[in-house]
Amino acid sequence: MGRAARDAGGRITGADLLRYLRDLGWRDVAWQPPPAKAVPPPVAHASSTPPAALDPSRAESLEEMARSLADCRRCRLAGSRSRVVFGAGSNRARVLFVGEGPGAEEDRQGVPFVGKAGQLLNAMLRAVGLRREDVYIANVVKCRPPENRDPQEDEAAACLPFLWRQIELVDPAVIVALGRVASQFLLGTKAPISSYRGRWTSCRGRDVLPTFHPAYLLRTPSAKAAVWADLKLLRQRLRDG
Ligand code: URA
Repeated sequence: MGRAARDAGGRITGADLLRYLRDLGWRDVAWQPPPAKAVPPPVAHASSTPPAALDPSRAESLEEMARSLADCRRCRLAGSRSRVVFGAGSNRARVLFVGEGPGAEEDRQGVPFVGKAGQLLNAMLRAVGLRREDVYIANVVKCRPPENRDPQEDEAAACLPFLWRQIELVDPAVIVALGRVASQFLLGTKAPISSYRGRWTSCRGRDVLPTFHPAYLLRTPSAKAAVWADLKLLRQRLRDG
């Protein structure tokens, strides 16, 4: 058989063979390509495509939201945190405290305000007749920023929808913003906290009392008098109902 009956790779194809035979004068030969092999349809592996992720900002309960955030990767903080620190306390608290973000101990335990600042917060609560279990405690960001730096704008933007939803679900009578960072993101201000702390203000239709962060109090004991005044405002508001 000559070169004309071979394909580019040197293989003889059915069409080439037919052309070759016809060239030789065989007029009555017909060539049918072999039937295509039946290829089984691809098998759908249920586990290969994860189900669409629940949007936690639409979660129906705090538990559901906590579950769906447990492996959150929405911002770079996911790369350095040990645990997502979702929030803790009573689901029906009248007071919701907002801090800035977990520290080292919170990152280890997965619970907000359990380090030194947390112990001082507990003492502040006791001073106005509240127990930790009576209030709800959350943070602007739910993962520890490396070296306890301030959360960056994009990190806070990724996390805030979940704080808004926590606030909706707990539905507290009042919110206490602990420190500059929490106040900045709740109230949308970059003014120094000393210019507005201790005055009731509002966020999303809720009363918010900004005060100093317990960690600041640990560094600056002279600020205790101001925080005590703020706590008395809180106590009065809770008594007034
Ligand atoms: N500081 C915060 O702002 N939040 C915590 O959870 C702990 C310390």
